[in-house]
Amino acid sequence: MKRLRLSITGFGTVGQGLAELLVTKRSLLMHNFDFEVTLISVANARHGFIYREDGLDIPTLLELAASRRPLTAHPGVRHWENALEGLRATGGDVLAEATGTNLRDAEPGISHIRAVLEQGMHVITANKGPAALAANELISLAKQHHVQLRMESTVMAGTPVISTIREGMAGAQVRAIRGILNGTTNYILSAMAAGRDYAEALAEAQMHGYAEADPTADVEGYDTLAKTLILSALVFDRPLEPDQITRQGITTLTREHISRAISEGKRIKLVASLRLLPENKAKNAPLEARVEPVELPLSDPLARVDGVTNAIAVQTDTLPEVTIIGPGAGRLQTGQGLLADLIAIANRS
Ligand code: HSE
Repeated sequence: MKRLRLSITGFGTVGQGLAELLVTKRSLLMHNFDFEVTLISVANARHGFIYREDGLDIPTLLELAASRRPLTAHPGVRHWENALEGLRATGGDVLAEATGTNLRDAEPGISHIRAVLEQGMHVITANKGPAALAANELISLAKQHHVQLRMESTVMAGTPVISTIREGMAGAQVRAIRGILNGTTNYILSAMAAGRDYAEALAEAQMHGYAEADPTADVEGYDTLAKTLILSALVFDRPLEPDQITRQGITTLTREHISRAISEGKRIKLVASLRLLPENKAKNAPLEARVEPVELPLSDPLARVDGVTNAIAVQTDTLPEVTIIGPGAGRLQTGQGLLADLIAIANRS
């Protein structure tokens, strides 16, 4: 049986979600996929990086995190203040990078990813910063070092979007994508459509662990913009810069806007769209990218997608339109995306 030595950097909602799945899915991984995971190191911003050669006890770690006690209280660990130093000193087979998204410079996640790819570790990540700002650079680095970099859970959490398009729809030429890619804003807009209050719905989304650490990233459309950048690089192979995407969030929408749309048989959704401009479908056709609230008629499959559920509609030359609908955020829902990536790595390495 194969054994994978795993490190997790970032032990918040997502890192803990993956850790929990490693416990509940342990026998499934052994019996169905013939591998076992040893969690050798974990880092978070408050307590630094801990490592144990023989493996950490996940229930103990989850208990420490839930009671906000230092991870260093785990018995028998070595400790580094800095995750990067810890990763360099200890290595492993796979890094699960789950630190918080930072769309300014993608730190600290991008440094973690670069460092471990260079030392020959595979990477799975839910961190949208490195994927949005440097997907192509990191993919090249992974290729150069003959390791895999997978990022399924950066878009629509564990709902398989990237693998479905890149692997399941391999060979199809994608012409356009439209999606509801942010769980928090869709939760708020759905609640407002049901007559509820913006602030109350946002507080609920935060309580469920859907929102970013600073929810401005959700409501002003930056999180959706990050996912749009990721899709432009991975699906269209056209990495864009953030300022090449028109962006508008949901903060200027009022209950009146939403009620008026409902009375006209429409729903307002925060929609990301990427489209090869129709006049030129050649290899280097320009790609139009937008994130903005859009009034959708109820006949549109995206109009009826409510709550934390996300959806993406993909148009290709061979499959006119494929719509994928599923959870867009959440602890286990995002952990599932990392788990699927880990299994893909175990199967192929
Ligand atoms: N804050 C994000 C959302 C988390 O609400 O969709 C998942 O990327």
